Parts: sequence; structure tokens; C-alpha cells
Amino acid sequence: MTASLPSESVRALLEDRIYVTQPHLPPLDEFLPYLQQIWNSRVLTNGGPFHQQFERELCEYLGVPYLSLFANGTLALVTALQALRITGEVITTPYSFVATAHSLLWNGVKPVFVDIDPHTMNLDPAKIEAAITPQTTAIMPVHCYGHPCDVDAIQKIADNYNLRVIYDAAHAFGVRNESGSILKHGDLSILSLHATKVFNTFEGGAIICPDAKTKQRIDHLKNFGFVDEVTVVAAGINGKMSEINAAFGLLQLQHIDEALERRKAIDARYRELLRNIPGIRCQADAGETTANYAYFPIHVEADYPISRDALFDKFREQGIFARRYFYPLISDFPMYRGLPSASRHNLPIASEAALKVLCLPIYPALTEEQVQRVVSIIAEH
Ligand SMILES: Cc1ncc(COP(=O)(O)O)c(C=O)c1O
Repeated sequence: MTASLPSESVRALLEDRIYVTQPHLPPLDEFLPYLQQIWNSRVLTNGGPFHQQFERELCEYLGVPYLSLFANGTLALVTALQALRITGEVITTPYSFVATAHSLLWNGVKPVFVDIDPHTMNLDPAKIEAAITPQTTAIMPVHCYGHPCDVDAIQKIADNYNLRVIYDAAHAFGVRNESGSILKHGDLSILSLHATKVFNTFEGGAIICPDAKTKQRIDHLKNFGFVDEVTVVAAGINGKMSEINAAFGLLQLQHIDEALERRKAIDARYRELLRNIPGIRCQADAGETTANYAYFPIHVEADYPISRDALFDKFREQGIFARRYFYPLISDFPMYRGLPSASRHNLPIASEAALKVLCLPIYPALTEEQVQRVVSIIAEH
């Protein structure tokens, strides 16, 4: 049987759709010389030349001292916890993508959910101390939507209680505050370079670390624990990024600044067009000096004429695929909801936010007409 191509009318309908994001891709012909080099060398993976070069150039671009590339952000999270030998309980946020908490379960660690700040949507430092027990070994906050956590307050608590801090910075590529890259805070930070992220290598991830010794341990852990041909020092995993992804990342670095500029312009346009619509609240920045405009969350408040879900459905009917990030909360999924910290009573702010939030489409190729189409659906009520 031969697969048939979609008819003209179906294709037109699909092309009219607007998704919450669309991967930013460079012109294909720019990638061909990189592929040619891989074909010539036949080095496909295992820390080849593109992998090494991409690590160096990414460190420089981000302004971080050391970084280890991974096949994806989830393996980076799982390995970051291994690298610091985290056990017992870890304090984290319910308002994130499931991989944040899943990485704890993969390490046999118990997640302890703490509520978020209603303005930043990040872990609320004022609520962390009450959740610390003798089993607590670390805090795993998320820079949600790329807005920085209150890194100073979190570090102070970590210092007082001798806890480690691992930031899930999957959304925070390129974000800076007044002290430089947001990725330099805590003991480790992880990035996702997934297709849906601001900067993508199809699939990919990284751990950012402060010193060469830690990087070496992480590099061993992502390569089965091998130090050399005959020496295995840990029960490592296969977390390596391939040469094809690393080469693609090098090319993407040449285009990232123009992509961020376009995101910034779309963010500003949404804010301008949504400013006077009652019941729609746009989320403010959280003190970043350089933002990445990774997401555009709006909060559909009680004085908006229809509910968040009714607006979500309305968008779908019109071919616009906004997303309810983050609904359901991680703490509401079956493998977490039995935990005492998962009760809605413990998480009132996150529970309310999960029912009000809607992330609007934002990506470099989104046109002015498309932005206006999105806004007109919100405005017509
Ligand atoms: C907050 C957060 N953490 C972790 C991940 C996992 O990253 P990856 O998809 O690269 O495994 C993602 C995204 O997918 C995410 O949004």
C-alpha cells in the first residue's frame, strides 16, 4: 500500500493551524557541510569533534564555566542527581513538566512539593523551610517559563540547612540577571535543548557545573561510568549527545540571536494588544536583565467572561493550539498524588494557577497577522 499525500484542502487546513510553538530551523543547505564532515570522518558519537566544539562554544555563548552535553534534558536531570549522590527527600515544585519530579523517582528519591509564588510561578522560598525534614538533602527549583527563581533566597536556605541545589533550567536558555547567566546558580543547572525549546538540537540537554572536577564526574556518568577502556568508576548511563545533534547545535548558535529578537518583538506585541482586555493578566518578568521569551503565559481571571477551558476550546475550534502549561500539576498525577505534600491544601497557589493559565503561541516564525488572530479570539468576549 502506498501512503497518499494529504489533499490540497487538508493541507490548507493544516497550514492554517497555529501551535503553541514551532521549532526554529536554519536553512537546510547550511547544515549539509556539517553532515559531509560527519560522513567523511565517520565519527558519529562518543565525544567527537563537534561535541567538543559545541561544548566550548555553548559555554562561551551562555557565559558559564563548564557544561556537559546530553542526549536530552531528562537524562541530564537524572544524572545531575547522581552526580551529587542525592538521596532521601528533595523539595521541588508541582508547577512544572513531569520530568522534573520523574528524575527524582528514577533516583529513588522522594519528591516533597512546595507551593509557588503567585507572581513568578516559581518555588516560593518563604515556604521551603517548613518542608525541610532530617531526610531532606536538596532543593530542585524550576526557572518556570525562563523567569529566574529567587536564587539568593534559595541559596541562603540551602546554606543554612546544608542542602544542595539543582536547578531545572530547561526553560532558561540564555537568561541573565544582574550577576550574569542564571545558569550559574546552585550546585548544578540543567538545560533542555528539545525541539520545543527556545534553542533546540532536535533532542538535547546539558548540565552546567562550576568546576572541571564536577564536569569530569558528569562526563563519566553519561558514558556508562567509563574512565578509560578498562576502568568503570560508577553505574553510569548512556546520556551522550550524538555528533549530528552537536553539529546542528553549532549551526543553531549562529541563528539564536535573531530568533530571540523576534520572540522579544512578539512578546511586546502581545502585551500591547492584551493590555486593555479585562480579566486577562500577562505574567511579568522576574528580575531578569536578559529574558528569552520562551513562553507567553496569560492568566484567565474570574472577571473574564468565559473560563480558561472555554477559551482553550474556542482556540482549538479555530485551529489555534494554545497549551495549559502547567495543568494538571505534577502532584496530581497518579504516581505523586498519594504523597502528603501533593494535597491541594498544601498547594493552593499552584492549584489555582493550573486552572487559570494558558500559554499562547510564541515562536520566531509567528507573523503579525497570526498574533492578531490569536488576540482577536481573546478580545471578542
Ligand atoms: C521544566 C522541564 N524539565 C525537564 C524537561 C525535560 O527535557 P527533555 O524533553 O529535553 O528531556 C522539560 C521539557 O521537556 C521541561 O519543560
